[in-house]
Amino acid sequence: MYRAREDASRRRFLAYLAGSPLLAMQDGVITDVKDALNVMDFEAAARKAIPPAHFGYLATGVDDDSTLKANREGWSHIKLRPRRLIDVSKVDMSVEVFGTKWETPIVMCPVSGQRAFHEEGELAVARAGKQKKTLQILSTFTSTSVEDVSAAAGRPVWYQLYTTTSLAVAERLVMRAEAAGCPVLALTVDLPAGRNTETQKRMRLLDKRPCMACHAPSFEVSRFRRPMFEGLDVKGLEPYNPALTWDFVDRLKKMTKMKLVVKGIVTREDARLCREHGVDGIVVSNHGGRAEESLRATVESLPEVLDGAGAGIPVLVDGGIRRGTDVFKALALGARAACIGRPYVWGLGAFGQAGVERVLEMLRGEFELAMKQCGTTSVEQIGRAYVTGT
Ligand code: GLV
Repeated sequence: MYRAREDASRRRFLAYLAGSPLLAMQDGVITDVKDALNVMDFEAAARKAIPPAHFGYLATGVDDDSTLKANREGWSHIKLRPRRLIDVSKVDMSVEVFGTKWETPIVMCPVSGQRAFHEEGELAVARAGKQKKTLQILSTFTSTSVEDVSAAAGRPVWYQLYTTTSLAVAERLVMRAEAAGCPVLALTVDLPAGRNTETQKRMRLLDKRPCMACHAPSFEVSRFRRPMFEGLDVKGLEPYNPALTWDFVDRLKKMTKMKLVVKGIVTREDARLCREHGVDGIVVSNHGGRAEESLRATVESLPEVLDGAGAGIPVLVDGGIRRGTDVFKALALGARAACIGRPYVWGLGAFGQAGVERVLEMLRGEFELAMKQCGTTSVEQIGRAYVTGT
């Protein structure tokens, strides 16, 4: 009797499942943007949607991917110290960076060649950023021009600069970004030479198709044939410049009215040099664990960079941010904003603009919840007293 009742209830449950969105999953992978419960759900969906070689480019760290993992794990060593009995029925998540107010402290970091992940690439990201009022930083190696992306974003985006081996080319890129109205230039300094992206190489072996077979029409594989290099002399150019020094930072400061942010700083010493050279902002970054295999999480570098930068220079941080609580922790430790890379590109690869929007929405929701749970009603209140374990 009991057994029969149990079977009937099991049948009812299976019938419920059959009509439920749970079965919109295939092999545990979401097939509808609405089914995601957290941003990690988009990773598996993107892995399915994106050709293996392209996914490998996104997924890779360097050597053993240990720095990439350290970034993620770093946040889990920081614990929250929530306060109770505070009216948190309304919270203000907005932050101000260089005079512009953003609805949340969540920023989309530069990722190159986004049309390799979805045919609408950077444009889909820009439209999502516009919808969700989120700052986008555009890569030098973007597959869509800074003018078109800014138009889609509804305002000029921040422009990330790889100088390449020609400083003359770099200057032309800077002038173009400035002419497009970009308010901020983010100079990446953590890739002076090559790197060993083993995961990328391994995943490439999984797909024997000729490279062009899986690209969106007109996606340009060669970085120097992409839109930002149109009309420039790119003969013999290399993407990263091993000869780059602080002199170029000084040159940039003289050359452009854009605010200058240096991206890739992980030590107190370099943060001090940023200050001495008049840099306006810093991104603590190890390039998502794809620069050197330092084994050091960015969250570990953040306090010393803040110390070296001193007051008045906004410090942003990226690397392994996957939860609203990570954003909260970044701010509690002193960052002005927290930047994400892979999560929004997972959203893009899996579902285009809708995926990017959902990723932003989820992180925003989680961050709001963390603020309420900790008893903070504005980002200014989020400080050291709310975390432990550093
Ligand atoms: C470029 O920024 C890369 O990490 O490949």
